[in-house]
Amino acid sequence: MNLKDKTIVVTGGAGFIGSHLVDRLVKEEPEKIIIIDNFFLGKHKNIEPAIKSFENIKLYYQDAGHYEKMKNIFAIENVDVVFNLAVVPLLTSHNLPKITCEDNINIALSVLELLKEGMYDTLIHCSSSEAYGTAQEHIMTESHPLKPTTPYAASKAASDLLVESYENTFDLDTAIVRPFNNFGPRQNEGSYAGVIPITIERIMAGKQPIIHGDGLQTRDYIYVSDTVEGMLQIYNSKVTRGKTINLATAKEITILDMIKAIAKELDYEGEFIFEGERLADVRRHRGDITLAEKLFDFKVKTSFDEGIKETVQWYKKLMHGPVP
Ligand SMILES: NC(=O)c1ccc[n+]([C@@H]2O[C@H](COP(=O)([O-])OP(=O)(O)OC[C@H]3O[C@@H](n4cnc5c(N)ncnc54)[C@H](O)[C@@H]3O)[C@@H](O)[C@H]2O)c1
Repeated sequence: MNLKDKTIVVTGGAGFIGSHLVDRLVKEEPEKIIIIDNFFLGKHKNIEPAIKSFENIKLYYQDAGHYEKMKNIFAIENVDVVFNLAVVPLLTSHNLPKITCEDNINIALSVLELLKEGMYDTLIHCSSSEAYGTAQEHIMTESHPLKPTTPYAASKAASDLLVESYENTFDLDTAIVRPFNNFGPRQNEGSYAGVIPITIERIMAGKQPIIHGDGLQTRDYIYVSDTVEGMLQIYNSKVTRGKTINLATAKEITILDMIKAIAKELDYEGEFIFEGERLADVRRHRGDITLAEKLFDFKVKTSFDEGIKETVQWYKKLMHGPVP
């Protein structure tokens, strides 16, 4: 399968991973790309490069969880495939757990209902390694139990179960992408920002970087362009249907080492501040990518060091000059 001449919806397309996916989709020469985003954390500047390079991009400023309004959009757009990336993020779930869960589950339900009704053909749904909770096995395969530790993670796990149940009950064309921690340009640096943009911004502002907990918690950091490539491969490869597939590097890095790598890139030689643990933080994450390798020859192209270099350079430009 390929995406040439297809009409593609990307929910959350103005966000971090979604906007990189849109950039990548342009190269597939689709008929049209439709971004559906309510701009909770999405930014117009994230999608400006794609809008400049491809004339057939349409943007709906819309809550993807509002089923009736989504149905109106799908009724006029003749959609073939949906990449479902819209999300209320983890850190929001610390303050607003109910809204986070309601929104994330409603988003999944609305794209599932539309699929069931034949309003489009294929759903590629974006999960998260957070759905697993803390690693119970050294390396986490897709059969690792779902033991979410935060309301966000629970909403991701619940959405995945909904996708599986709709696929099973109504024989739908779906696949679930389960990325581990992503990093790269355009990761939200404002409210609810993640540790990488916060650390870069603090060091650049002359402040000491903050480490929550002992810094020895690990993550499997995958560069955003590798995740996006994997998402495309998952769509293109029919054998992925009905499956959940990890996208990771199969390597784990401590938060402390990750922050040291950023510090090195920014020539920072000062102290780090250690603060209390983040609420219900997962301790250890390392993804098994055997399934992705077997099904579609998934390969990680960007090393952690290269990715950190690119990311730091991008934030430097963001803070000191025009963003490419
Ligand atoms: N960033 C990571 O490390 C990571 C890791 C694993 C999985 N994921 C998953 O990848 C996907 C994208 O995450 P991201 O990091 O790009 O997040 P992001 O916050 O940068 O992007 C999410 C986008 O969804 C939009 N949005 C939120 N609620 C919406 C709604 N109701 N209707 C329409 N749009 C809405 C936001 O405005 C934003 O543009 C999510 O499904 C997330 O769970 C992310």
